[in-house]
Amino acid sequence: MNSLFRTSVTRENEIKVSIRWMSRRDMKEVLEIESECFEFAWNEEDFMQCLRQRNCIGMVAEYQGRVVGYMIYELQKTKIHLLNVATLSKFRRKGVGAQLVAKLIAKLGNQRRSRITLEVRETNLPAQLFLRSLGFLAIDILHGFYEGTNEDAYQMVYRYQTFEPIQQVFQPICMAEVVGR
Ligand SMILES: CC(C)(COP(=O)(O)OP(=O)(O)OC[C@H]1O[C@@H](n2cnc3c(N)ncnc32)[C@H](O)[C@@H]1OP(=O)(O)O)[C@@H](O)C(=O)NCCC(=O)NCCS
Repeated sequence: MNSLFRTSVTRENEIKVSIRWMSRRDMKEVLEIESECFEFAWNEEDFMQCLRQRNCIGMVAEYQGRVVGYMIYELQKTKIHLLNVATLSKFRRKGVGAQLVAKLIAKLGNQRRSRITLEVRETNLPAQLFLRSLGFLAIDILHGFYEGTNEDAYQMVYRYQTFEPIQQVFQPICMAEVVGR
């Protein structure tokens, strides 16, 4: 489904999560998700070290009082760099990840930040499909990006765009049809 519709149409199986800042109290649940999702999982100190930086922000998605997903990102001068996004496995394919990333997309266009970037493991096809469904594109291959495994990464980007009024987009097509008749 097109990313434009993704944020505005509720799917049958979608759950509505509330998204808020990550706090130290969330760490236990965040670490559970992290260790469930990743072979090379961050520990609490990794998270705290990252979040202590002024430009690093963590957010959690909460459903019925439980943290079911999170993301962590850096605000840079002209872009947002997404360090990680993850959903508890029982809650996947319910729109949790999409709602988290939609929060980031909504921040673009302000303060000269016009894109979101991230690196994804070459073998992480579910994440690549997830990002593609939200409008991200793979723009580069970073060879041997991951320490330890030496695995390649895809660099992916989401670019902020303002849309032309529909009339302008369709006008040339209508004219061509008229000319063709
Ligand atoms: C990638 C991840 C965050 C997606 O989270 P999610 O909450 O399941 O995603 P959503 O339900 O919002 O999915 C939105 C869309 O992305 C696509 N998508 C998500 N997971 C997919 C999968 N496993 N296979 C194919 N498409 C997928 C689908 O188009 C989906 O819409 P649909 O369910 O209506 O078809 C989740 O699979 C995850 O936590 N993976 C492990 C951690 C990870 O790899 N994170 C990324 C690191 S860069």
